[in-house]
Amino acid sequence: MATIDDIKSRIDIVDLVSEAGVKLRHAGKNYTGFCPFHDNKHTPAFVVWPESGTWRCFGQCNEGGDIFKFVMKREGLDFKDALQKLADRAGVKIESLQREAPQVREAHERLRLLLEDAIIFYRTHLFNNKEILNYLREKRKLTDATIESFGLGYAPHGYDNLLKQFLPKGYTEQELIDSGMLSVREADDSRNSQHATRSYDRFRNRIMIPIRDETGRMAGFGARIVDPNDIPKFLNSPETPIFTKGHLLYGLDRARKPIRMADQAVIVEGYLDVIALHQAGYENVVSPMGTALTEDQLRLLKKSTRRIVLALDPDTAGQKAVLRGLDAARSAMDREGELGFDARGLLRNEARLQADLRVASMPDDLDPDEIVARDKDEWKRLIENAKPIVTHVMDSLAVGQNLNDAKVKNQIASQVLPLIEDLPNAMERDTYRQALARMLKVNESSLVGTQTQGQVMRRRPRAVDQSQRAVTPVVALNPTLKIESYCIGVLLRKPVLLYRLDRGLQEFGLSALAVEDFEYTDHQLLFGVVRLAVEQDEKEHHQYVMSHLPETISDVSRDLFAQTEQIDPADDKLLEELLARFIDLRRANAMLNVNQLRFLQEDEQQQGGANIKIYQEQAIQFTRLLHSLDQAKRKLTSKRQA
Ligand code: UTP
Ligand code: MN
Repeated sequence: MATIDDIKSRIDIVDLVSEAGVKLRHAGKNYTGFCPFHDNKHTPAFVVWPESGTWRCFGQCNEGGDIFKFVMKREGLDFKDALQKLADRAGVKIESLQREAPQVREAHERLRLLLEDAIIFYRTHLFNNKEILNYLREKRKLTDATIESFGLGYAPHGYDNLLKQFLPKGYTEQELIDSGMLSVREADDSRNSQHATRSYDRFRNRIMIPIRDETGRMAGFGARIVDPNDIPKFLNSPETPIFTKGHLLYGLDRARKPIRMADQAVIVEGYLDVIALHQAGYENVVSPMGTALTEDQLRLLKKSTRRIVLALDPDTAGQKAVLRGLDAARSAMDREGELGFDARGLLRNEARLQADLRVASMPDDLDPDEIVARDKDEWKRLIENAKPIVTHVMDSLAVGQNLNDAKVKNQIASQVLPLIEDLPNAMERDTYRQALARMLKVNESSLVGTQTQGQVMRRRPRAVDQSQRAVTPVVALNPTLKIESYCIGVLLRKPVLLYRLDRGLQEFGLSALAVEDFEYTDHQLLFGVVRLAVEQDEKEHHQYVMSHLPETISDVSRDLFAQTEQIDPADDKLLEELLARFIDLRRANAMLNVNQLRFLQEDEQQQGGANIKIYQEQAIQFTRLLHSLDQAKRKLTSKRQA
């Protein structure tokens, strides 16, 4: 199910802000420009952080936020309207985020029942068709046990098989349409003849592959051609109330446990590859259904493991898209019909979800099913040798190129460096920059120059000053998501802790908790609910929270509840733990601001601008805050040890 963070991950804040007319300049890991909300056109006090998807004006406004806040402020919308607008842009249906009403759920149950009946119908036809059966047995090397357990079937020729089969069983034509198994005829046709049915079999003369959701409930079908001249090669159920391609992964119902056991999930590109690999004993394998890999799908997997390997077919859309993604606009990634292995999108998701994404390429122009057919162990080796995304991109770009040619070096560097610069982890950035330098046989320092030229070069030594790096990795490693999830999860379970946290912070001379303490919109919304819960007295706090959870993020809330199941809310240590976490979050944020202000001051100094005082004052304030936070942390630590 989609979440607000999905919308965030699909919208590039740099694109969004640029389209709003703000000219942005790349500055290290960030972008700066003139603030669109106040009219000072002398100093670029407006900063965008693509990695966290946030912005801030260090000038007069002294405000900041995420894409939602930006659209709200820019267009004067409330949150709901901004959400709608950005959901449209991201191609996410808000309605699909809503919780199912009981009648709706019942209707869905009936559709699933119908699909289960359809499996039996198609199966009968398969076992009556020697030719197709032989194709699966001989050509595809599938055993009868596999054919049975994956529920494979055959949709016969003809346009009215399903109506004939299922109307007498009490299903309605509308239900058959809703399930995605019937296509609706153009309105014009049905006017011509009163007796003509409105609809006809969508799947004809095709091998039928049932698709289930991660809990094993029937959702739809994938259908492969039998006749090589038919198009398309694979025809899937259309989007129905129970079939949303972007939210499902083929095979996940049976792969879930093996994924957890192996602590690794492998994503391939084809249904038949999933089936063949499972048959060969590799059961931690799933595939998307001809669409871009979505963050939802990664999230689904991430419930079982954070280690994910993409096994890309050779020379296919998927493989090429990794490289094309380097230049292509992000929107291209969601185009249907080609897998969106866009390196930049993947890296962003990887950081966001704290996942470990790797890429395994298939050799010799073979699909995964052909590889296991050739040599079972080869698959294991390929997966074991999967490379991190950046390495994969680097290596793929280098294949067949003359790396001694300066032009080639430059071209590769200019494609790979932006990816490296985007990584949130300083250590990883260093490692990859070194690897790239080694591969291109150039000095690391010349790499920095290739990409950034001038402007940023000047800042770089200070921006990523080594001594600073040694102190700040705790902050730079971006554990924000994890810490925030934990904090908000605990607060959801025990809202009353909020009072005690506020008091605790105030005892240290710090301000009470506020929405701004959270970076992620999901968490901000949930924090709002917790705040309201403790401020009302009509309902028990926890009950209030449960009945006011925003429906658009119900799955996030569910996850958070699940994650904090083990905590003991009565524990006094818990309060101290939370205090420490919130102080850490504030510290990371203050640090970021101090660093940014340092750049701005530098810029301003060179341009002899008038804003330098404002920046200095702000920097002093943030430094003071840092000082108080450190002091608080020390007191807290000694208290905890006592
Ligand atoms: P492939 O064309 O690589 O098919 O598409 P395959 O799975 O290797 O099939 P075989 O081995 O030729 O029988 C890979 C996947 O892309 C999706 C399907 O999910 C397919 O399994 N796809 C492909 C579509 O959804 N529609 C298409 O028209 C083609
Ligand atoms: Mn294949």
